[in-house]
Amino acid sequence: MKLTGWKSMLSGLIMAGGLASTPAAAQMFINAVSGQPLELDTGREEERDTPAVKEFLQTMQNPYNEDQQALPKGRSIFNTACSGCHGYLGEGKIGPALNHDGWHYELETDKGLFEVIFGGADRQMGPQNEFLTQDEILHVMAWVRHLYTGDPDSAVWLTDEQRSTFQPYKEESK
Ligand code: HEC
Repeated sequence: MKLTGWKSMLSGLIMAGGLASTPAAAQMFINAVSGQPLELDTGREEERDTPAVKEFLQTMQNPYNEDQQALPKGRSIFNTACSGCHGYLGEGKIGPALNHDGWHYELETDKGLFEVIFGGADRQMGPQNEFLTQDEILHVMAWVRHLYTGDPDSAVWLTDEQRSTFQPYKEESK
């Protein structure tokens, strides 16, 4: 009898522990330079709760990566908002190259890439959250990933399935 009591109490505790540690959309975003928290309720107000944004906040993985429907919009945003400094191929101009994995910040996670774009970094890399909605940031992130020219095996942001077919970007394969 006693044992049963203990057992049920224990499983109650384990349940509570399990629930408490569930990351309920609650990974904190930080500014890549200052380490200060990024407030997701700042910047553009539209498109903060599209299915893709919701999924990203839950999983920290960008659902638009290698999504053929989403890539053209990502490219168009990149060409307008980013290529002046980073080059059309992400090859780097006054801003650093984005098309290989020798990054300055921790960009191998989609969370890290989002933080730099949403909250900005040093020098001319201002926060983009005033110009782009969160959904547009996910689109442009997918295009940055698509421009990657490095070894697909290092493309840890892709799912295993995506990685198995990923081709390093070539200009003519646009
Ligand atoms: C006015 C010029 C300018 C524009 C526009 C700009 N960037 Fe940048 N970007 C920079 C500079 C300069 C840096 C280097 C900042 C640093 O080292 O802190 C940078 C850094 C970055 C980094 C980090 C690179 C690394 O090595 O870690 C990413 C990612 C990035 N930019 C993406 C974007 C995207 C996506 C856009 C468009 C939405 C954009 N940038 C628009 C100038 C720009």
